[in-house]
Amino acid sequence: MKNPVAAAPGSLAAGKRSYQRLCEKCHGPEGHGDGTAVTEKQPPDLTDATWEFGSTDGELFAAVHDGTSPDMEGYKERMTDTEIWNVVNYVRSLASK
Ligand code: HEC
Repeated sequence: MKNPVAAAPGSLAAGKRSYQRLCEKCHGPEGHGDGTAVTEKQPPDLTDATWEFGSTDGELFAAVHDGTSPDMEGYKERMTDTEIWNVVNYVRSLASK
């Protein structure tokens, strides 16, 4: 699956808003997995080079769209595809900091 949304400033800004609303509580403000709502499983660091569920944009999209396990549920009911691509672009920008 190819990312149809360019990682332009508008996409990153929209992705950041979604991330802060939906993801930060587990994945932490900078993506290190140090959010406050972490229950059972420690979320993986989104800024390192290790991707348990695949490293391509399409695989990141699938992890967010469908979820990976009961520890990380999917967002397809709560986010549009475009919103998910924006958040994928934003997560990538965290990794490159
Ligand atoms: C309830 C806490 C929680 C929330 C909220 C959450 N995640 Fe996760 N996330 C996790 C956990 C835990 C894992 C590891 C899941 C596993 O091992 O099955 C994970 C895994 C991931 C992965 C795969 C990482 C890898 O190494 O392959 C990505 C990408 C991801 N989350 C992105 C997001 C995004 C984007 C959002 C917001 C739309 C989000 N997550 C919301 C807890 C959460």
